This record gives sequence, C-alpha cells and structure tokens, in this order.
Amino acid sequence: MSFVKYLLPALAATKVAFASSDCGDTTLETQVDADGIASCSTISGDVTIKDTYSGTLALNGIKKITGSLKANNATGVSSMTADSLTSIGSNFTLNELTGLTQLSFSQLNSVGNIYWEALPELQSLDFPKGISEAGDVSIINTGLTNLNGINLTQVGDFNIEDNKHLESININELKNSTGVINFSGNDDGLNIEFPNLYNAKGLTFRNVSSVMAPSLTVAKSQLGFWGTGLKNFTAMNLTQTGDLTFNDNPNLNNISMPNLQTVNGGFIIKLNEKLDSIDLPKLQTVGGAIQFTGTFNELEFGSLNRVSGAFNVQSTKGNFSCSSFESEFKQKVEGKWKCDSTNPQASTAAGSTTGSDDNSGSSGKSSSTSSSAAMANGVYPATGIAAVFFALAQLF
Ligand SMILES: *[C@@H]1O[C@H](CO)[C@@H](O)[C@H](O)[C@H]1NC(C)=O
Ligand SMILES: *[C@@H]1O[C@H](CO)[C@@H](O)[C@H](O)[C@H]1NC(C)=O
Ligand SMILES: *[C@@H]1O[C@H](CO)[C@@H](O)[C@H](O)[C@H]1NC(C)=O
Ligand SMILES: *[C@@H]1O[C@H](CO)[C@@H](O)[C@H](O)[C@H]1NC(C)=O
Ligand SMILES: *[C@@H]1O[C@H](CO)[C@@H](O)[C@H](O)[C@H]1NC(C)=O
Ligand SMILES: *[C@@H]1O[C@H](CO)[C@@H](O)[C@H](O)[C@H]1NC(C)=O
Ligand SMILES: *[C@@H]1O[C@H](CO)[C@@H](O)[C@H](O)[C@H]1NC(C)=O
Ligand SMILES: *[C@@H]1O[C@H](CO)[C@@H](O)[C@H](O)[C@H]1NC(C)=O
Ligand SMILES: *[C@@H]1O[C@H](CO)[C@@H](O)[C@H](O)[C@H]1NC(C)=O
Ligand SMILES: *[C@@H]1O[C@H](CO)[C@@H](O)[C@H](O)[C@H]1NC(C)=O
Repeated sequence: MSFVKYLLPALAATKVAFASSDCGDTTLETQVDADGIASCSTISGDVTIKDTYSGTLALNGIKKITGSLKANNATGVSSMTADSLTSIGSNFTLNELTGLTQLSFSQLNSVGNIYWEALPELQSLDFPKGISEAGDVSIINTGLTNLNGINLTQVGDFNIEDNKHLESININELKNSTGVINFSGNDDGLNIEFPNLYNAKGLTFRNVSSVMAPSLTVAKSQLGFWGTGLKNFTAMNLTQTGDLTFNDNPNLNNISMPNLQTVNGGFIIKLNEKLDSIDLPKLQTVGGAIQFTGTFNELEFGSLNRVSGAFNVQSTKGNFSCSSFESEFKQKVEGKWKCDSTNPQASTAAGSTTGSDDNSGSSGKSSSTSSSAAMANGVYPATGIAAVFFALAQLF
C-alpha cells in the first residue's frame, strides 16, 4: 500500500475531507504520513508503522481503525500518541519498539487484541479512558510497573510474561476470562488482584508474590501455582476447577477453598514446605489423580466421593490416619492407592516418585488416555506445563 497518495493532500491541507474509501490500509514512515490521514475519522483497514520510522508519532484526528495498528521492529519510535482514537478493531501490535517510552491514547477504550512484546523502555501506560474491552492480551518483556489503563471487564487469553519491573496489578472490573490468565517471569514481588473475577477458563501463576481472587467460582480448565512466593490462597466461593496445582511454593501456609467440590483433572499439592494443614471439606469429585506430598500435619477430606485417577498421599509428619482414609475412600478411587503419613522422603520431589503415579496428572489409568482426555477438554496436562516451565526456567 502506498502512503505516497496521502502525502500531497497532507501538504495541501490537513482539513481536506477524504472519501472514506481513501482511508484504507496505510503505512506510516514519517509524521507527515500520519498528518495525511488525520482527517480520516475511520480507517477501514490497517495502520502500519514502518520499521524505519523515527521519533514521535501523533495519530491525531482518527477515531476508529477497523483493522490493526501495528509496528514491528520500529526501534526509532520514541512515543505514540492518539488524541481521538476510541477503537482498534483487530490487533494492537507493538513488537521490538526498544526506544518507546510513551504510549498516550486519551480516548482508547476498545481493542480487538493486544500483542506487545519487547518494549523495555515503556514504564507506564497513559490510557485515561481505560481499555475496557479486548480479546486476547499478551504483554511480554516491557518496562511496565503496573497495568493501569487496562481496565478490562472481560478478556480472552491474558498472558503477562517477563515484565521484570511489574510490581502490582489490580484489574478491578475483570469478571470473566474466556481464555487462560497466565503470569510468569515478571518481578518476583508481583501482587495480583482480581477483586471481581468470577469465571475464568484458566489461571496459571509463576513468579508472583500474592494472588487475590476472592470472587472466583470456576476455573474451568486449570488453576495452578508454580514457584511462587504466595503465603496463602483463599477462594471462599470456588466450587470447580480443571487441573489444580500447588507446586513448589515455599511460603505457602494456607490454602482455603472451603466450597471446592469438583476438580475436573489432576489435583497436585507438593513441595510447599510451610503448608501444615490441608482441609477440603466439600471436595467430592476429582477427575484425575490426587497427589499430595509434603510435610503437612493435618489432612481432611470431608466429602470425597470419586477419584478417577490415583490416590497418592505422603507426608513426612502427618497426623492423619491412612487406615481410616483407606476404609473410607479406597473403594471410591479408581487408580492406584498409596498413603503414607510418615514417609521421610515426602518433603522432596523424590519422595513423591512412585512410578507412574507421578505422571498421572489427569488420570490414574493410563497416561495416554490421560493426556488425550485432558487435551480434548482444552486442558494442558499439568506435568506438561511443569516440564515446559522448568525448561523455560533454565533460560533465566
Ligand atoms: C530489526 O531491525 C534491525 C536493524 O534494522 C535488523 O538488524 C533486525 O534484523 C530486525 N529484526 C527483525 C526481527 O526484523
Ligand atoms: C493478530 O495477531 C495474531 C498474533 O500475532 C495473529 O495470529 C493474527 O493473524 C493477527 N490478526 C490480524 C487480523 O492481523
Ligand atoms: C481503571 O482501573 C483503575 C484501577 O482499578 C482505576 O483506578 C481507574 O479509575 C479506572 N479507570 C477508568 C477510566 O475506569
Ligand atoms: C463470559 O464471556 C463470554 C463471552 O462473551 C460469555 O459467553 C459468557 O456468558 C460470560 N460469562 C459470564 C459468567 O459472564
Ligand atoms: C503461559 O506461560 C507459559 C510459561 O511461560 C507458556 O509456556 C504458555 O504458553 C503460556 N500460556 C498461554 C496460554 O499463553
Ligand atoms: C460469594 O458468593 C456469595 C453467594 O453467592 C456472595 O454473596 C458473595 O458476595 C461472594 N463473595 C465474593 C467475595 O464474591
Ligand atoms: C521464577 O521462579 C522459578 C522457580 O522459583 C525460578 O527458578 C526462576 O528463576 C524465576 N524466574 C524469574 C524470572 O524470576
Ligand atoms: C495472606 O497473605 C498476605 C500477604 O501475601 C497477607 O497480607 C494476608 O494477611 C494473608 N492472609 C491470611 C489469612 O493469612
Ligand atoms: C486459613 O485461612 C482461613 C481464612 O482465609 C482461615 O479461616 C483458616 O483458619 C486458616 N487455616 C489455617 C490452618 O491457618
Ligand atoms: C493427632 O490427632 C489426634 C486425633 O485427631 C489427636 O488426639 C492428637 O493429639 C494429634 N497428635 C498430634 C501430635 O498433633
């Protein structure tokens, strides 16, 4: 697409009214090109910022871009501002804008998807209207310290990775995610608050310090915490999850999910050395295996009625009775049975290694049906995620 056709009118007068057909796909190489489309109230197509663009960019006048606003590898762009833009229909893609320090979109409210990656100098967002609607949001390797301005009420996949300065997030209005909310590799002190998140497809947390989601009722595909600094996790209204994992959270001393009834997948609690007590008063059904290992003293299942996979419970110093569990629950467990309340190895990863049990994230019967069943439900097998994570963790 030629930007040249906008140059002449731009030089003539920015007030020239364009027929809407002239306001299609546009590539911007300089501010003059941007001025040339300033009288387009709607751009019916994409606005692409050329990688050779240098300096500040003001996208004034435009109210709506029906397609994408994108810049790849435009390392010379120092700021982007837009005084009238309310919506971007498709992608808002910023990739490798290593010189970008300012994003000011005073009216922006709705975006198809956000894909931002490698914006190391961008420390804050200036979105005073707040982006309340977006599909998928992926924010990777930026200098952001918070996500103020991202005021979503609902989101698809929400992937927040490798933002080394990200310290706190509070998305007060977020009620609903149709995709996976995924945090990893951000500042280890990151505090996350989703005060009103009610229904999520999935939530996975790595390298975070606290997670507050008091209204959560369902995490359909998964809920998992790996290698976090979390001290406690409280979800009073949580009734149902997919795979549920608390793995390697050395400060975790309290898991409170008093209304959890159904885990549609594997349920793993391991390597949480401060966790002394596990109480699951309403848990009835586990669609995969239960694998709890550690140093916990108390363990209570109030209502356990069906476990489709294995039951593997091992503690170094548990004051719970494996024989009463056995008489109460063994006939309700379809997979292998293992219970040991005083296994000195149980506090280490090795302590939980009991053959195939360890891999039975989603089924106790056979690992092949396990992973295909899990995948068919759009669930990542917990062991797969952990494996990927540990592989990635080597890179840091
Ligand atoms: C980005 O631009 C630099 C310099 O122009 C170039 O060397 C590099 O290959 C580009 N990277 C990508 C991913 O296009
Ligand atoms: C939006 O970005 C995603 C991820 O990069 C890409 O798969 C998709 O094709 C893009 N959509 C459009 C309309 O450009
Ligand atoms: C966006 O959310 C933040 C934090 O919850 C809040 O302070 C701000 O007022 C909200 N902005 C708008 C425009 O709703
Ligand atoms: C969440 O959003 C999806 C997509 O818009 C919608 O279908 C679903 O009903 C919403 N769920 C809740 C609980 O609001
Ligand atoms: C979540 O993060 C992990 C680890 O970085 C990554 O492997 C995975 O693809 C992410 N998931 C989504 C849905 O973005
Ligand atoms: C939990 O559910 C109850 C009953 O539906 C509701 O009244 C309460 O506000 C919910 N708590 C939170 C923190 O959302
Ligand atoms: C994330 O946490 C893991 C496990 O605790 C750790 O090995 C890794 O170094 C952390 N990564 C970052 C970027 O802090
Ligand atoms: C949970 O941990 C947070 C800090 O991460 C702390 O402020 C809060 O008091 C703790 N709540 C309980 C019930 O222990
Ligand atoms: C865990 O925290 C909840 C409140 O969040 C509290 O009611 C419960 O007593 C705590 N359990 C333990 C073992 O500290
Ligand atoms: C273990 O539990 C029993 C009954 O639940 C109790 O009587 C006993 O004092 C407990 N022992 C320890 C060391 O906590």
